Amino acid sequence: MPDEVRSTSDVEEEVAHRFPPGFVWGAATAAFQIEGSTTVDGRSDSIWDEFCRRPGAVKAGDTGDPATDHYRQYERDVALMAELGLGAYRFSIAWPRVRPDGGAVNQRGLDFYERLVDRLLENNIAPWATFYHWDLPQALEERGGWTNRDTAYRYADYVDAVLRRLGDRVPVYTTFNEPWCSAFLGYASGIHAPGRTEPRAAVAAVHHLLLAHGLGMAAVRELALKADAGVTLNLFPVAAADPDSPADREVARLVDGMQNRIFLDPVLCGQYPPDMVEHLAPYGLVELIKEGDLDLISAPLDLLGVNYYRGHLVAAGEPRTGPTDWIGVDNVDFLSSGMPLTDSGWEVQPPGLVDVLVRLHEEYPPVALHITENGAAYRDVIDADGTINDLDRIAFLDAHLRAAHTAIEHGVDLRGYFYWSLLDNFEWAEGYAKRFGIVHVDYTTQLRTPKRSARWYSKVIADNGLPRAAG
Ligand code: FCB
Repeated sequence: MPDEVRSTSDVEEEVAHRFPPGFVWGAATAAFQIEGSTTVDGRSDSIWDEFCRRPGAVKAGDTGDPATDHYRQYERDVALMAELGLGAYRFSIAWPRVRPDGGAVNQRGLDFYERLVDRLLENNIAPWATFYHWDLPQALEERGGWTNRDTAYRYADYVDAVLRRLGDRVPVYTTFNEPWCSAFLGYASGIHAPGRTEPRAAVAAVHHLLLAHGLGMAAVRELALKADAGVTLNLFPVAAADPDSPADREVARLVDGMQNRIFLDPVLCGQYPPDMVEHLAPYGLVELIKEGDLDLISAPLDLLGVNYYRGHLVAAGEPRTGPTDWIGVDNVDFLSSGMPLTDSGWEVQPPGLVDVLVRLHEEYPPVALHITENGAAYRDVIDADGTINDLDRIAFLDAHLRAAHTAIEHGVDLRGYFYWSLLDNFEWAEGYAKRFGIVHVDYTTQLRTPKRSARWYSKVIADNGLPRAAG
């Protein structure tokens, strides 16, 4: 039926699950994953440039250059966002562009982010800037990286430089993306940069990342009075495989403690969880905490960003040796719950999103929530006519948005959703093989092609609601 003869009620009937007015619809990226141009305009190496040079660290020997060439093609990318109707764009700023080697301010680095922010604003897309999405200047890693308390103060200097240039033009800042990954993947299992496998170093990184978060919040309050500020955490529901087994419950408690509560409790409640203080005492946690740190770390947030991909189903298994993310726990097994897998091998678990959001709502002090990342990698196929009919990604999006809606019905103060990612990009140790974008990138020509999911998401944004039937 042509659009002009459909009545409003026909259209109404096609839209189920309307979101609250003003709900923020966006997409997310991160500097190192899309920008490329890693050696221009004064940028220095980050820990990821260095990590990519390590044989075997990143699949297929992939590196951060040219990535999606966004540094040079940002105008085209903003035009795409406008075409899709995004209300907000979450991106990160590269510290090694703004203060190369962690040192003096480099105005040419800031120029890029100013151009990007202005272009977004011209297109009525709210810029959501993250100060840190894992690209520490390599020179600072050589001075101890996040194991060194001084790195938190260097971070504050970097944030200061960004705020003095971009100030209130950016309405929302987040201090960190997923500090769990920086601390545990970076310093415990070593599968991310800087690739260290030292449990004590990971614990020090946790505290110094949190301290830096507190210093970053204070800087935003001082220099960007109109901006909102918060932090993004990657949260997982953690369930014991056998809830009646004390051993399974014990590993579930420890995994939940190190995955979720070790960040949530200091930030939202001003203290480390007592069981984590005890568990991590042999790794030096208590000695790291100086007077006033927890006051800084727990300064009130305007928003908490939640990145959700899947949950953990855990059981107590046989003890193992070798590097692990789970410090002091050598016997945790991660089980399948039987749900289908994405191309990353991650289970598709939409109900877990409801669990995470409802838990925050019920167990923590009130704070506005935004889903700052959620998405899936699939093996996209380009059809003969050039289209990419990624129905699996549409089903993923649809199911998770329904879950988000369910959480709102439970009373959760959820105010926005950002799909990860706008573009296919450099998926860290997995390289370019895992495609998360709603926009396909041909890495040879840098051609962007919106996938069918992009069109689907665009309609959801326009309707501020989900279609009755997926796809
Ligand atoms: C998150 C990261 C993001 C991306 C997605 C798939 O942990 O924040 O950069 O890699 O996973």
